[in-house]
Amino acid sequence: MNEANPIILAIESSCDDTSAAVLKGKKVLANKTATQGVHAEFGGVVPELASRAHLQNIIPVIDQALKEAGVDKKDLEAIAYTQGPGLLGSLLVGGTFAKTMAMSLDIPIIEVNHMQGHILSHLIEDDFSSPEFPFLCLTVSGGHTQIVLVKSSYEMEILGETIDDAAGEAFDKAAKIMDLPYPGGPLIDKNAKDGDALKFSFTEAKVGKFEFSFSGLKTSFLYFLQKEMKKNDQFIKENLNDICASIQHAIVETLIKKLKLAIEETKVKHIAIAGGVSANSSLRSRLFELAKETNTKAHIPDFQYCTDNAGMIGIAAYYKFLESEFGSIETVPNPRLKF
Ligand code: KG4
Ligand code: ZN
Repeated sequence: MNEANPIILAIESSCDDTSAAVLKGKKVLANKTATQGVHAEFGGVVPELASRAHLQNIIPVIDQALKEAGVDKKDLEAIAYTQGPGLLGSLLVGGTFAKTMAMSLDIPIIEVNHMQGHILSHLIEDDFSSPEFPFLCLTVSGGHTQIVLVKSSYEMEILGETIDDAAGEAFDKAAKIMDLPYPGGPLIDKNAKDGDALKFSFTEAKVGKFEFSFSGLKTSFLYFLQKEMKKNDQFIKENLNDICASIQHAIVETLIKKLKLAIEETKVKHIAIAGGVSANSSLRSRLFELAKETNTKAHIPDFQYCTDNAGMIGIAAYYKFLESEFGSIETVPNPRLKF
């Protein structure tokens, strides 16, 4: 066994992406993801369809990852999987597969918290530099929006989070109101590139210092569009880019404002973003501006590690492997897993 550079197979199946990665130490040898197109026509993830698609995808995805990594399953030293948070049926597929495979190979299982995976994706040994501890991570996905103080690879403190919708949900719901297909976040980002972010403004929620609330924004966005469409039923079509840029601006500025408050309070020197919304081009550029303004260093994960992927589960598993923090066959998935 190569303790410093263990070969780990990681499996991620918490939502609608089936992903497998093979790592040697902190290096990702392969990271393969099957994205489920089946949900687009429903305007959101349908849990039962997600579980079924995971069942279909899991073997081919693992097979591809092992082949691309050039690793035989007999060389694996541990198998990691996402224990939660996520959709129960989806988690069950990855978890059951991981436990069964680990048992058959007689190697340890490692349970990973999906959100910690997103955060630790920053420590994957690649061509981007890792943040130094302690750092602040704004974790923004379809299910979460948190400001986390990351003290070490296993010590993390949530300073604040959303009290209702997540940032990704805000993007997706706004897109749905405009009849854009799911997931709408990337489409809003794309259309916003040619739009005027200051054309329309929306009221910002008043919540606790490090808390977020996006449900009011969604409602005010809906009422605004309904009112404008009554006057001109081509309003959305004629102003799509400006509307996308304006709603994106509202979401991103709220995120940046709270992160700035957290920097001032914690006095950290490194800041990061993680989760699906960290793929957003406006958030990425605003983070760098914020870093300049606050004299901190900004970190953004490589694009392939922004949205759900098994590479991030593998890096979190690597740190657990070093601590011999192995899981149990008895562990069940936890849709509301906290850290
Ligand atoms: O982390 P992730 O892949 O899955 C969850 O754990 O939720 O995040 C998915 C979310 C979706 O809401 C999607 O619309 C959003 O990330 N997203 C984006 C962009 N790319 C993905 N939101 C805004 N701009 C993007 N470029
Ligand atoms: Zn995620």
